[in-house]
Parts: sequence; C-alpha cells; structure tokens
Amino acid sequence: MARYLVTGGAGFIGSHLVDALLQRGDAVRVFDNFSTGYEHNLAHCINDIELVRGDLRDAEAVSQAVAGCEVIFHEGALPSVPRSVSDPLTTDAVNTGGSLHVLQAARQHGARRVVFAASSSVYGDTPILPKVETMAMSPKSPYAVSKMAAESYLKVFHHVYGLETVGLRYFNVFGPRQDPTSQYSGVIARFMTLALQGEPYTMNGTGNQSRDFTYIANVVQANLLAASVPAAAGHVFNIACGLRISLNDVVAMLNKLVGKELPVIYGPARTGDVEHSLADISAARQILGFEPSVDIETGIARTLDWYRTQGA
Ligand code: UD1
Repeated sequence: MARYLVTGGAGFIGSHLVDALLQRGDAVRVFDNFSTGYEHNLAHCINDIELVRGDLRDAEAVSQAVAGCEVIFHEGALPSVPRSVSDPLTTDAVNTGGSLHVLQAARQHGARRVVFAASSSVYGDTPILPKVETMAMSPKSPYAVSKMAAESYLKVFHHVYGLETVGLRYFNVFGPRQDPTSQYSGVIARFMTLALQGEPYTMNGTGNQSRDFTYIANVVQANLLAASVPAAAGHVFNIACGLRISLNDVVAMLNKLVGKELPVIYGPARTGDVEHSLADISAARQILGFEPSVDIETGIARTLDWYRTQGA
C-alpha cells in the first residue's frame, strides 16, 4: 500500500518528488491525467510506482487515488499565468476545484497531511520586497486566484476539520524535465532551448522584470520537510532562494554558457505579469529547517547540461 500520493506525479515537479521518495525507499502512488505531464518523466521508475490515471476534476477518481495514503503531495495543476488568462474556467476547475477534491478525499480517508504546491503569484505586484507570508495576497491573474483559493481551502480544512495542511509557495521553479515546447512553458525552459538552438530570445517587456528562480532540488527538499515537520501543519511557506535576478541577467548567463551573443527580441509586456518577485524564506528556514542547497548559477548550468543531453 502506497504511503505517499503525488498528484501531478508525471509532471516536472511531481516526477522529481517521486524520484526522491523512491530513493528513500517509500511506496509511491502517482495520480496524473497526462495533460501537462509526460509518461517519459516516469519511464525510468514505472515499475516501482503505482500509477493511477485520472483527472483532478473527477472527485471519485481523486477519492480512489487518495484512499490508503498517509501523505498527499498535491502537485497536480494547470500551470501558467497566460494559459489562465486565455482559459480561466479550466484553470479554476483544475486548480481550485481539483484541490478541493484532494482535501475532501484526504479528510474522508483519514490522510494525515496534504502538502500543496502553492505559488508566489498570490503576492501579485505589490511594491514591497521581499515577500513575507504574512502579507496580504493580491492576485493579478486567474492562475494566481486559483492558487489563492486553494490555499484558503487548505487553511479552512486545517481549522474546521483538523487536517494537517502545508502550503509551499514556490517561486519560479526550474530544472531538468521542465517542458520547453508549450507556448505556456516557463521562461528558463524556453530560453535554454532557444540558446541551444542559437535562436533569439523572445522577451516579454523590458527584461528588467525579476524573479527568485528556484532550482528543482530545493523544492523537492522543501516538500520532504513539509511532509514530516510537525510544526508545519496549518502553515504556508515561501520556497525560494531569497535572491532575484532579471530576465536580462538570465540571458547574459545563458549567452556565457553557450559561448554566443544571441540577440533578444523585445515585445510587449505580458498581461497578468508580475514585475518583481523575491521571497523572504525565514519562515521555511526556522520552521521547516529548509535551506536552499543549489544556487541559481549551479542550477542553470545543470539544467542547460540536461537540455543538451535531450538534444534541445
Ligand atoms: C508564475 C509564478 C510562479 C508559478 C508560475 C506557474 C510569479 C512571480 N510567479 O510564474 O510562481 O510557478 O507562474 O506557471 O507570479 N517570459 C518572456 N519570454 C518567454 C516566456 C516568459 O519574456 O518566452 C517572461 C514572462 O512574461 C514573465 C517571466 O518571463 O515576465 C517569467 O514567466 P514564466 O516563466 O511564465 O513564469 P511566471 O509567470 O513569472
């Protein structure tokens, strides 16, 4: 019987978490509908996991997947701010409704804890940096609203039903397996592919916008801590490096790594975009014992190497 359920386990973040759990010798069940996840992300461990195909919008399928699991890592979601701008209903149904299904199933089946992939986007574009968990949420996109709503459900399920819930507000995660092929792909995945192909970077806006880019290994580490630290229950934590760089800085780093001066095509800023994002990670440090172990330079170099091996 699986002790751990990873929703979205075929996705970028979920599949890395699956690897870490398997490495510890844990029994893992994956729930995924392969809409933004891929079978190839799990190909190397397919015989070591229990794979349940299903959609987060299907309450009964979610309930069956949750049954018997002690901890649920709820990574499944439709990511992307621009996707949510063009299709807010589906983003909400999957991200908010799906999260409610997970929480309800966890409660019904007596799961101990739900660890949720929350998002830095809930802070919006408020001027004060760094962002601290005690600040008011101020979403700027339907995606951010869906993550905020799911977080609110987490809090309510903790207070009303006593379910142990932990929200991890990821700040722009990147690393191997992040899909570079979609129009909704994260910027690092896209820029790396362009850099390796010798193509110009497609910049939305000035490139001065900045992010607290977080390498995947740090996010996996945070999840393992969030599942086990007793004092984490009922809280949300920023998960990041606590350092921001601009997109123009990312371009400079990539150009250096590929040994080329590739041009940048500057276009209009993207609707729903946040200008600057930076995390205060004191709470994660103090309560979870979290410490980012891979900095951005190392993470970028490792990720670029990975895309190289994929023939990007
Ligand atoms: C947001 C959240 C992040 C969440 C993610 C899910 C914030 C600060 N971050 O990321 O926590 O995990 O949604 O999807 O809200 N860009 C280009 N050219 C491209 C692609 C992107 O210039 O080809 C720009 C975007 O306009 C944006 C930046 O790069 O300014 C980052 O975009 P993206 O990687 O999509 O992530 P966020 O929307 O910041």
